[in-house]
Amino acid sequence: MTTDRTDLIMDAAARAAAYLRTAAHRPVWPTDAAVDALTGFPDALPDHGAPAAEVLERLDRLGSPATVVSNAGRYLGFVTGGTDPAAQAAAILSGAWDQNGAMPVMSPVAARLDAVAADWCTRLLGLPETATGAFCGGATIANLTCILAARDALLHRQGWSVDERGMAGAPALRVVTGEEVHVSALKALRAAGLGSRDTVLVPTDGCGRLIADQLPPLDDRTLVVLQAGNVNTGHSDPFGPVIAAAREAGAWVHVDGAFGLWAAAAPGRAGTVAGVDGADSWATDLHKWLNVSYDSGLAVCARGDDLRRALATDAAYVASDAERVPMHLSLQMSQRARGIEAWAVIAARGRSGVAAMVEECCAHAERLAALLRRGGAEIAAPVVLNQVLARFGDDARTTRVIAAVQREGTTWAGGTVWKGRPAMRLSVSDQATTGADITACAEAVLACMRRAA
Ligand SMILES: Cc1ncc(COP(=O)(O)O)c(C=O)c1O
Repeated sequence: MTTDRTDLIMDAAARAAAYLRTAAHRPVWPTDAAVDALTGFPDALPDHGAPAAEVLERLDRLGSPATVVSNAGRYLGFVTGGTDPAAQAAAILSGAWDQNGAMPVMSPVAARLDAVAADWCTRLLGLPETATGAFCGGATIANLTCILAARDALLHRQGWSVDERGMAGAPALRVVTGEEVHVSALKALRAAGLGSRDTVLVPTDGCGRLIADQLPPLDDRTLVVLQAGNVNTGHSDPFGPVIAAAREAGAWVHVDGAFGLWAAAAPGRAGTVAGVDGADSWATDLHKWLNVSYDSGLAVCARGDDLRRALATDAAYVASDAERVPMHLSLQMSQRARGIEAWAVIAARGRSGVAAMVEECCAHAERLAALLRRGGAEIAAPVVLNQVLARFGDDARTTRVIAAVQREGTTWAGGTVWKGRPAMRLSVSDQATTGADITACAEAVLACMRRAA
C-alpha cells in the first residue's frame, strides 16, 4: 500500500468519525442551504480527474451536510434502522478487504463469516436449525429469492421442471395473501411471473392481520404469502392456523418478515410471531433491525435444496464442490460479503444484546405512543412492536403536522394512509435511540400539532 493510499484512508476515517460525532446535534433533515449546495456536484462529466484527497474533501464538504441523519437516534422515518458501531467498523475494514462473497474459492474469510452469520441469524430468528439462509440486497430481493424457490418447488412437485421447460405452459399456481401484503412481495411475485389475476387477497382486521377464518381453500399449487410486521402497525398475520391449513393442503407458506421477524429474537416480543417457524421460507432485512449498513437482507428456506433448485448455476469456471456456495443460493453471482457485518453485530452483542436492542426499540415505541396520546394525538393501532401510527385531529390537520415535523428538524416521520385516512408513521429501529431522544421527538411532534391547530 502506498503512503498516499494510507493517508487517504486515515483521512476518510477521521471524516467519518467527525460526521458521527456531530450527527446527533444536527437537524435530522438537512437545511435548504445544504441541499442547494449540492449543485457543487456538477452535472458535467469531467474530462480529467482530480486528486482523490480533493475528491474526498469535496464529498465531505458538500455531501455530509446534505445527509438525512438517520443513524443518530432521532430519525423515525420508514423502518430504516441505524448502523451498529460494530457493523460500521467492520464495514470500514471489510471495504479495504474488497472480498467477493460469491464462492469460497474467492475468499476464505467471506465464506466462513457468510456461513456463521447466516446460521446465527436463523437461530436468533427462531427458525429451524436445518434451514438454509442466503444473504442478499434487502427484503425485496429476499422475497423474490424465496418466491422463486417456492414457485419452482411447487411446480417440481407437479412433475414440472422450470429449469428445463421454463414457465410457458406450466401448471397454474395461485397466490393467497392478506390485503395488507407489502408492495415488495407483490413486486417479487410479478417478477416471478405471478400477477394480480393469480392472487387472492384475504381480508384483514383493524390491525392489518389476515383473517384466518376467511382463508379460501388451499391446495398443492398454492403459494401463501404471510407477513411478520405490517409496515404501518407492526402486527403480524396469525401464523399458527394459516400454516396448519397450508400444511394440510400441501401449499407453500412464505413469510415477509422484513423487520417484524426480529420480534422472534426478543423473548418478550416473540409471541407476536408465534408459529412463524412452521413456514417454508422467510425474507428479512438486516439493514433494518439488525442495524447493519445498506444493503443487506436474508432469504431463508426450510430446505436448502429448494433454494439451490431455483438459483444454482453451472459453468466450468465457477464449478465448486464446497458445501455452501453463496452464488448458488442467491440471485447475484459477485456479491458484497454481507455476512461480515452481520457477524460483527451479533459477535459484539450476543443473543442477549440483540434481544435487548429489539426490546428497547419496542419499549421506546410504546413510550412514544403514550407521550403522543397524553399530548392529544390519536394512536390509530395498538403498539405491539416498534411502529406507532398517529393522527392529530382531522385529516387536513394530520397532513399539516406531518409536513411541519418533516421541516422542523428534531425528528423525521413519514406519512401513510391507514384505513383510508392519513396518519403519521413513526418507527423506532435504531440502536442509537435513547429515552431522551424519544422525549425530544414527542415534544417536537406535539409542538407541531399545536401550531397546526
Ligand atoms: C414488510 C416489508 N417488506 C419488505 C420491505 C422491502 O424491504 P427492502 O427495502 O429492504 O427491499 C419492507 C421495507 O421497505 C417492509 O417493511
